[in-house]
Amino acid sequence: MNKLLTAALALSVACVTTVALAQDLKGDAAAGKAKASMCIGCHGIPEYKASFPEVYEVPKLAGQGAGYIEAALHEYKKGERRFPTMRAIAAPLTDQDIADLAAYYSTQAGPAQKLPPKPNIEPGPKVAAILAKANCAACHGANFSTPIAPTYPELAGQHASYLLAALRQYKTKGNPNFGRGNPIMGGMVATLSDADLKALADYIGSLDGNLKTVAESRFQ
Ligand code: HEC
Ligand code: HEC
Repeated sequence: MNKLLTAALALSVACVTTVALAQDLKGDAAAGKAKASMCIGCHGIPEYKASFPEVYEVPKLAGQGAGYIEAALHEYKKGERRFPTMRAIAAPLTDQDIADLAAYYSTQAGPAQKLPPKPNIEPGPKVAAILAKANCAACHGANFSTPIAPTYPELAGQHASYLLAALRQYKTKGNPNFGRGNPIMGGMVATLSDADLKALADYIGSLDGNLKTVAESRFQ
């Protein structure tokens, strides 16, 4: 896809607090903030770790694209993502709740910083070879912060332990508590070893990006 269009998409997602959605639902960030009280016990605590079914850091949501946050919440709701706590949390949310929460978290860290188009750290030879073969940048952007579609995630600077858990879940079949059905990523990871996935996660997690966990307490 054309670079300008990619940049325009990324900008439009980053700049607006009210996000227009496929179904013409508008997310309201202020309403989302009120609804996020059931999220902050995990997503409002920097470095907080999930303990079941495996131990890894909960993902950074602030600065993530609204379209992707929404897509992910719908996938937990439908059971296409199997992580049990998030399934239970997403189940009662309406489409409007999901749109509002996405608008809130996508803008929670303020305006996105302007990132250079290339990653700030060069990959080592092993990671460079995997990246070249799999062409991860074709969808996630050369700097892993400029995905080509609003429903695709930003990855740069996400917790490495979470990136690894996410990648392994696209490969996992038949586990009721750990797995994801997305066919695009399922195809991407099918031929990669766990050691390859760990090397990718460590590299992408070490890059500068827009993602953050904003500390929030219930008493604000
Ligand atoms: C008990 C802790 C906990 C609570 C409470 C919680 N989450 Fe999560 N959330 C997690 C964990 C752990 C994951 C990673 C799950 C996985 O591996 O798929 C996650 C994943 C997500 C993702 C996917 C992020 C990505 O990069 O793919 C979104 C979006 C999300 N949560 C939003 C929310 C929202 C909105 C709320 C409140 C309505 C919430 N979560 C409440 C622990 C929690
Ligand atoms: C053809 C487009 C495409 C390519 C190429 C691609 N991805 Fe993805 N990626 C996606 C989409 C779409 C999603 C969202 C899937 C979902 O909804 O679970 C995603 C999700 C992810 C996630 C989960 C992020 C999160 O917050 O949970 C990680 C990690 C990831 N990709 C890493 C990679 C890596 C590493 C490569 C190269 C080996 C790669 N991707 C190649 C489209 C792509």
